[in-house]
Amino acid sequence: MNFMAGRHFLQIPGPTNVPERVLRAMSKPTIDHRGPEFSRLAIEVLDGLKLICKTRASLVIYPSSGTGAWEAALVNTLSPGDRVLMAETGHFATLWRNIATNHGLDVDFIPTDWRRGADPATIEEKLTLDRDRKFKAVAIVHNETSTGVTSRIAEIRKAIDRASHPALFLVDTISSLASIDYRHDEWGVDVTVGCSQKGLMLPPGLALNAISAKALAASKTARLSRSYWDWEPMLSANKAGFFPYTPPTNLLFGLQESLNMLNEEGLENVFARHMRHAEATRRAVRAWSLQILCQNPLEYSSSLTAVLLPEGHNADAFRKTVLERFNMSLGNGLGKLQGKVFRIGHLGYFNDLMLAGTLSGVEMGLGLAGIPYTKGGITSALEYLAQK
Ligand SMILES: Cc1ncc(COP(=O)(O)O)c(C=O)c1O
Repeated sequence: MNFMAGRHFLQIPGPTNVPERVLRAMSKPTIDHRGPEFSRLAIEVLDGLKLICKTRASLVIYPSSGTGAWEAALVNTLSPGDRVLMAETGHFATLWRNIATNHGLDVDFIPTDWRRGADPATIEEKLTLDRDRKFKAVAIVHNETSTGVTSRIAEIRKAIDRASHPALFLVDTISSLASIDYRHDEWGVDVTVGCSQKGLMLPPGLALNAISAKALAASKTARLSRSYWDWEPMLSANKAGFFPYTPPTNLLFGLQESLNMLNEEGLENVFARHMRHAEATRRAVRAWSLQILCQNPLEYSSSLTAVLLPEGHNADAFRKTVLERFNMSLGNGLGKLQGKVFRIGHLGYFNDLMLAGTLSGVEMGLGLAGIPYTKGGITSALEYLAQK
């Protein structure tokens, strides 16, 4: 590709833009991970992440991508052959299901058309009919990054309670944590799965599990084999601020800084900022006469918007045009949405003018790629941003 001046626009829904403050924090010299300075750092970031997850429960950080935290949630709580209830909300729910079946779990995968979230009523019905209490866990992706649909975790918790079912509740918050309201304790979640490269504004490489007392108790008898992901040695070493193996020290420096930034802005303000940018984006999409993939307004995602292109138009060709002409990366369609949708990431370290630039690139790209659309999406978005 020819040299392109100016900053690249990274508008995929993660990894997100890493703030300079975080980059600078990570450039500090690596310290002794068995010394007192490290211990203070680890305890500070573990406590800080608990505030982000809205929990007082246990929390562990792994040096891994989010996939590791998916696996950790399953292998620490379940035994071979256990039944797990999951919802096929999209590509990422499908990948988590695959990990479960690879481990010999028996998954009931509730289908959807990839345009809506997990349905609380269906979950309630399945659990009510499960009189022998065979389901050991309900595992749901909070924000399905492949579709831009946010499942209603609080409603699903109520559905589990209405069925009086003892199953553990496992929730993937990989693209919702620190972007969309999430409450581990209040919503009775047993294991939260999270990672660094989205709302936490860090590079990829850190993953987390927040762990309820009930999940911790389940881990004592769970028989899936585990070693690296085992919570026990991690929690035990964490008590003194250490890890059972070499931690990703510089990423933890970055995490310390990103937690500072989230606290300075205030978590509720962070959520409001994401909601506002998501609404402005949807106004642009509607004004372009294009379709938002998510069909239920109650489940619109604040961290990304997936946009469906008209039949006969390839979203990857459109993305290529945008990348080559405007130096902007948009998210691709994943799994069965490949070529059909593009995704606009509006999460993490992001502001009004970054959104204005992003939407401008999309609008210009639509014209250049020959996609039928109505002009004026940017104007709709800007009018909304200017008034709110
Ligand atoms: C909702 C969700 N879950 C899980 C993952 C997998 O995380 P990773 O690619 O970091 O392993 C992703 C990645 O984008 C995701 O968006």
